[in-house]
Amino acid sequence: MDRHELSALAHADHPIASPVSEGTVGRLLERAVRRPDAHLLDLGCGSGTWLLRALEAHPGATAEGVDISDAGFGRTRAAAADLGIADRLELSRQDVTEFRSGRKADVVLSVGSAYAFGEVLPALDAARRHLADDGVVLFGDCFWEAEPSAALRAELEDGPQKYADLATTIAAITDHGWTPVYGHVSTLEEWDEYEWCWTGSLARWALDNPDHPDHEQALRASNAHREGWLNGYRGVLGFVVLLLRRTD
Ligand SMILES: C[S@@+](CC[C@H](N)C(=O)[O-])C[C@H]1O[C@@H](n2cnc3c(N)ncnc32)[C@H](O)[C@@H]1O
Repeated sequence: MDRHELSALAHADHPIASPVSEGTVGRLLERAVRRPDAHLLDLGCGSGTWLLRALEAHPGATAEGVDISDAGFGRTRAAAADLGIADRLELSRQDVTEFRSGRKADVVLSVGSAYAFGEVLPALDAARRHLADDGVVLFGDCFWEAEPSAALRAELEDGPQKYADLATTIAAITDHGWTPVYGHVSTLEEWDEYEWCWTGSLARWALDNPDHPDHEQALRASNAHREGWLNGYRGVLGFVVLLLRRTD
């Protein structure tokens, strides 16, 4: 199976692909959605669960999600149909760097997806292009909660994106013309729940499907992920979600 199919299995128990609880998601969305007919756009929406939660809570809202993988869309579309809100949710498989829309959004989400644009500031620039004048951005990304070892830094900063401590991360965003009007830093409990769900649902699938040709791959991936987490970034990598408005 490819990494998107593997990720969809790993997110069976925790469809939000970020270390935030359902309570946190609800609270952040409550602050972000400020008008009954709000339109939301999620750049790198994963399964689209943030949007599903927003539409459940706001019967007049509409939402569009874009992701390079549609591996999680089926489950979310089925949930939206069950809830009678499928007509307000559009999920598209597309590279966000190529995504263009004729419609401005009142809320643009980019949670855990900044790396699609290389790093934080280009991701925020992209969000801004889609944002209504008085809109808000719900932006989530990692930061270093504690100083990482050189090996861990090399492992997690192997792409264009580099992390900083929380204060430095937020200073870069404010210097770029954004003001946080709310925020949430993931707790260790939220991280642990996320990682146990990730590794656990994948391991459970592998053990439940011993005859599947991919079961060994899934079990190896679960074990490697758990070891990387427990021996590496647990308590060192942080995650923050900011509700941002333009300063100007
Ligand atoms: C950590 S997940 C976060 C998903 C979602 N925002 C959430 O919090 O549940 C990052 C997502 O970004 C998507 N992604 C990465 N690069 C992308 C690209 N170039 N275009 C669209 N989506 C991309 C991945 O497929 C993945 O679903």
